[in-house]
Amino acid sequence: MMKIDKKIVQLAKLIKTSTHTVVLTGAGMSTESGIPDFRSRSGWWKNIDPLTVATVEALQSNYELFHQFYSARIEALAKCKPHEGYQMLANWEQNGLLHRVATQNVDGFHHQAGNRHVDELHGSILTYRCQQCEKEASKQAFIDKKHCSSCDGKLRPNVVLFGETLPEEAWNNALYHIQKADLVIVIGTSLQVYPVSQLPTMTNGTTVCINKEVGVEQSFFDLVIEGSAKETLVNVNQLL
Ligand code: APR
Repeated sequence: MMKIDKKIVQLAKLIKTSTHTVVLTGAGMSTESGIPDFRSRSGWWKNIDPLTVATVEALQSNYELFHQFYSARIEALAKCKPHEGYQMLANWEQNGLLHRVATQNVDGFHHQAGNRHVDELHGSILTYRCQQCEKEASKQAFIDKKHCSSCDGKLRPNVVLFGETLPEEAWNNALYHIQKADLVIVIGTSLQVYPVSQLPTMTNGTTVCINKEVGVEQSFFDLVIEGSAKETLVNVNQLL
């Protein structure tokens, strides 16, 4: 078993020699900023059935619970900020070492940290619309449980709910860059949710996984680093 720092050295070398690098992130990228992920021991789905809060059916049949769940996530997010690992990715983009970030996260932290080329594959919890007429709504109107000002419809955050299709432009961009990439680094995702779970298999480039828990989902990667996203990114950065 290769010592972990050798893997850090290997990853740094891959980043320096790559001509097109893409990073794909999941909720594990934000846990060190204080935001729970979904499927770990302390994840949201450990105590809540996702089908009761994160579907259109839930929005329509139990808006009270739907609103409570997303209000709690919005409130929790307001107390958090991107950690150092996010800063590393923003620096790599600035220095031409990173060409695209695709994320399943809805927290907007990649943008907040300074990355400009980010595809938000599961939407955003920072913007809102009417479920019925799609009219844009404000955060305050959603928080205050207001209805749509033009059609009286229910308001929701622009996150992709289970059963909904992904934003086409974000998906097409992410797919384009992953197919073009010679290095794809996947950080903090259990790769349980389709179709994003398929993206790492859609590249001919070298695939690297950085994850706290490593299982069968990670078995096809060329390089697996079992550990914290923040620490790994900071350690790799020191070698760039
Ligand atoms: N560093 C590295 N990995 C971590 C860290 C960390 N600090 N914290 C957690 N992880 C790992 C966990 O071990 C887990 O394998 O990140 C992974 C997070 O997986 P999930 O909780 O399943 O989150 P994600 O893969 O992003 O979920 C995909 O599912 O619920 C939906 O829409 C939601 O976008 C989300 C999608």
